[in-house]
Amino acid sequence: MDNDGRLIEYAGQFRVIQKVARGGMATVYEAEQIGPSGFTKQIALKIIHDRYAKQAEWLQLFIDEAKLSANLVHGNIVQIYQLGQVDNEFFIAMEFIKGVTLRSLIDRHRQLATPMTPALGAYIASRVCRALDFAHNFVDRGGRRLDIVHRDVSPGNVLLTWDGHVKLGDFGIAKARTMADPAAQRPLMMGKKHYMSPEQILGGHVDSRSDVFAMGIVLFELLALQPLFTEDETEAAIDEVVVAPVPDVARHIPGIDASLDALLRAALSKAPDQRPSAADFGRVLDQFCVQHRETGSPERLQAHLAALFPDSYRPPTEAAPVSGMTGQQGLSPRSRPSLVRRILGLD
Ligand SMILES: Nc1ncnc2c1ncn2[C@@H]1O[C@H](COP(=O)(O)OP(=O)(O)O)[C@@H](O)[C@H]1O
Ligand SMILES: [Mg+2]
Repeated sequence: MDNDGRLIEYAGQFRVIQKVARGGMATVYEAEQIGPSGFTKQIALKIIHDRYAKQAEWLQLFIDEAKLSANLVHGNIVQIYQLGQVDNEFFIAMEFIKGVTLRSLIDRHRQLATPMTPALGAYIASRVCRALDFAHNFVDRGGRRLDIVHRDVSPGNVLLTWDGHVKLGDFGIAKARTMADPAAQRPLMMGKKHYMSPEQILGGHVDSRSDVFAMGIVLFELLALQPLFTEDETEAAIDEVVVAPVPDVARHIPGIDASLDALLRAALSKAPDQRPSAADFGRVLDQFCVQHRETGSPERLQAHLAALFPDSYRPPTEAAPVSGMTGQQGLSPRSRPSLVRRILGLD
């Protein structure tokens, strides 16, 4: 109690281990946070590119990303630890995700020409919906709704851990109602063209329902293994999102369950008020799994990732070898090849 309001100054130290990915605005590194007495913690460091750091508007976006998502503590959101500054360089320290992006998972499926089971797609999408529902309805310490909108829901921003958890990251262009919005002047430069709602691509008012539309695009791609929108040229891109009718989902995803078909149609409605909330979106996906007696679970996703990425798969735990399973010691019992093959529909 005596310590109320006391300021503890701490100059954190980080050791960069290796580059993980170079994004549009920043580079992400695997790093270690170093503390006293040999304390270390594996973290990720996101460092804004020099040329953006020099422009106040972009630097502000980077700072806002950290400030906005700092308190979004949720199992399906990549957790931010700290916004740091060394000289004029800003960085974000955050939870290090060992795994792959949803982009890589979709690409791998395309490469193998094997569809994802609807239950697995529904599991992944439902967890992203939980993350969005949390951000959309988040209230700050004073109880104020912040009305956070992510605005960049896309496969590259959904991370899948080797042990089967799903985390939404990159709140780089997210916005709260209470914030000045640098995107207001240049809407087309923000977000990924093929994952934008009609109102976002037109530079109009964007709220949580825009994220739901983007989630619809992502779910479509998960199930169809092909992107819903593909036009690169701006006018054509606007046309396919804003004007063209919603494509016939069943034609692109043969055999799609009626409830998922209806869900996709609703989420992809041009009119925001026809779309479900992120919470309802997630509930329909969960119900789909229950009705089909299919569990979408971390265990299943883990086994799936183990099968699809045998060379890079590195789970955080390693179970003791099961007797009588010679030659399979590297895999945990819950990802034994027989199960893996069954999940992939290979047996
Ligand atoms: N916390 C993290 N742990 C591991 N890899 C990450 C993490 N955050 C991002 N990445 C990787 O870096 C890429 C770019 O990060 P992101 O935050 O999406 O930045 P950008 O704004 O450049 O898109 C991601 O697609 C992912 O591959
Ligand atoms: Mg990104």
